[in-house]
Amino acid sequence: MSRTRTAILAALALVAGATGTAAAVVPGDVGIAAIPCSVDYKVQSQWDAGFTAAVTITNNSAAKSSWAVKWSYAGNQKVTSGWNAKISQSGAAVTANNETYNGSLASGGSVSFGFNASYSGTNALPTTFTLDGVTCNVDDGGGPTDPGDPGDPSAKVDNPYSGAKVYVNPEWSAKAAAETGGSRISNQPTGVWLDRIAAINGVGGGMGLRAHLDAALAQKGSGEEVVQLVVYDLPGRDCAALASNGELGPTEIDKYKTQFIDPIAAILADSKYAGLRIVTTIEIDSLPNLVTNTGSRATATPACDTMLANGNYVKGVGYALAKLGAIPNVYNYIDAGHHGWLGWDDNFAPSATLFKQAATSEGATVDDVHGFITNTANYSALKENNFTINDAVNGTSVRQSKWVDWNRYVDELSYAQAFRTQLVSVGFNSGIGMLIDTSRNGWGGTARPTGPGATTSVDTYVDGGRYDRRIHVGNWCNQSGAGLGERPKAAPATGIDAYVWMKPPGESDGSSTAIPNDEGKGFDRMCDPTYTGNARNGNSMSGALANAPLSGHWFSAQFQQLMQNAYPSL
Ligand code: BGC
Repeated sequence: MSRTRTAILAALALVAGATGTAAAVVPGDVGIAAIPCSVDYKVQSQWDAGFTAAVTITNNSAAKSSWAVKWSYAGNQKVTSGWNAKISQSGAAVTANNETYNGSLASGGSVSFGFNASYSGTNALPTTFTLDGVTCNVDDGGGPTDPGDPGDPSAKVDNPYSGAKVYVNPEWSAKAAAETGGSRISNQPTGVWLDRIAAINGVGGGMGLRAHLDAALAQKGSGEEVVQLVVYDLPGRDCAALASNGELGPTEIDKYKTQFIDPIAAILADSKYAGLRIVTTIEIDSLPNLVTNTGSRATATPACDTMLANGNYVKGVGYALAKLGAIPNVYNYIDAGHHGWLGWDDNFAPSATLFKQAATSEGATVDDVHGFITNTANYSALKENNFTINDAVNGTSVRQSKWVDWNRYVDELSYAQAFRTQLVSVGFNSGIGMLIDTSRNGWGGTARPTGPGATTSVDTYVDGGRYDRRIHVGNWCNQSGAGLGERPKAAPATGIDAYVWMKPPGESDGSSTAIPNDEGKGFDRMCDPTYTGNARNGNSMSGALANAPLSGHWFSAQFQQLMQNAYPSL
C-alpha cells in the first residue's frame, strides 16, 4: 500500500533535529552507544477534529516485564480511546501503560499501540518521549528503510520486498541441496506453508512457526527481512479437486478461527518478531473456486457449491485478513488464481467483486489487504513473447485459437497487471501490489520455441510459438516439461511487488495414484498421467508426471526436471 509520509512527519524531523534529539543508531554500529529506546509516532489518518495515531516503542536496554511511555502535547490534543495500551491523560501529559498481555518487552524487542484523539488547530507532534523515565529518540522521518532507523516495525512499507532479503527455509534448502545440482538454487527463498493446525508447532519434529521466525531473525542481521507464509487450512479445502483436501470439514469454521488463525496471529504479534516483514498469502485457490466451480456452470462441483452456500470460505478469508492485517508488520496477499483460470470475462470482474466481499467481511477492511498473488503452484508462462492477445492470423483473432479459447490474457504478467487495475476499480487501495509465483513457469529447455509459429492458422501460430507447453491451460498437476521460472526478485515490473517461489520447487502437487494418508488428501486423477480429463481441462490428457507422491511431499524427479528446463537457465 502506498503510505506517503505526511508533511507533519517531515516537520517532526525538523523539530527533532532542532531540539538536538540524538540521531537514531543501528544496534551493532561500531563505536556508537545504543540509545536506550526509540519511538515511532505516526499520525495514520487525520480529519477536521480528530486523528488516529500508532506508536511503536523499541527497547534497546534490558528486558522489561512492564512499561510506561510518556509524552506531552503542545496543543489541545486529547486521547479519546486507545488499544494495546492503557492510556491516560492529565492536561497535556499522556501516559501509556502496558496491557496485561503485552507487558513483557525483550531487549531489542518492540511493542505497538494506537489511539484516537481529538484536537483543533494544529496537530503538532510531540517531540520528547520517555520509556520508564528514560528519554528515547524519535523516528527521524527518513523512511522505513532508512539505515538510520533501528527498525521501524509499525510502518507498513509500500513494497515489503524492496530493499529486503527474503527468508531461506532451512528445511527446504537442505532437501534442495541434497539433490544433484541442487546447490545452484538451494539458497533461494521459498514459501513456508502452514497447511494444517499441527504445522504451527511443527509436523513430525519439523520446524514450527516460531522456529521459522527465529531462524528468519538470525538471517535478518541488521537489514530488512521478508518471511513468506502461506495460510492454507480453510474448512472444506480444495473444493474443485482432491489432491489438497485438508483436515477441516466444510462446517468447521470455528475450529479454523480458534485453532488455526488465532494461534498464528498470536505468534506473529509477538514483539520479538516486530522487525520482520511478514508476508502472508491467504488461502490458495479458495475464492476463485467459488466463482468458477459453482452453480450452473459445467465445471461446478458439489463441494464448491457447499462452500459457496455455507459462506465458510468467505468468512475464513475475511477473518484471516482482519486478524493478521491488524498486526503492524504483517502484509496480507490474497490468492488471485492465474490467467488460465480467471482471465475470461465471465470470471474476471466477478472474482474481483467476490474478493472485495471477502475482504470486507468478519471485521476485515480493504486496508487489511496489501496485495494479491497469482499463479501459486501453477504453470502459466510469465510472458509469451511470440504472440499477444491482439494478434490475428488471416483475419482471425488468436482469442479464437484452441489454446487461448476466448481468454483475454495469454500470460501471467499481463493478467496480474490488468487484474490489479480491476481490483482497484472495485475499491481496493490504489497502492496494492501483485506477487507472481514463478516457481514452475519457466518452460525452458530444448523444446522452447525460438520464434512465432507458422501463420497457417491461429492454432499453428499460437501452438508453434507458445512457451507454455501444457496440453491444456487447465492442467495443474506436476506438469511434464515445466521448468523453474524467474528467480525471486523484488519490484520486477509495474504493479508487481515481487516474483516469488511461493510453492517450493520439488514439492509435489498431488499423487499420481491413490496413497493412504492422515492429511485428508485425496487422489485427484488430474495427477494421473493416464487420465483423459474432465470439463475443467477441456477433457484433455492431464500432462502429469508419473510416480508422484502426495501433495507437499518431496518429488525428486519433478525437482530435477524443473532445474533441467529452467528459464532463465541455471
Ligand atoms: C499441499 C500442501 C503443501 C503445499 C506446498 C499443497 O499442494 O496440499 O500440503 O504444504 O502444496 O508444497
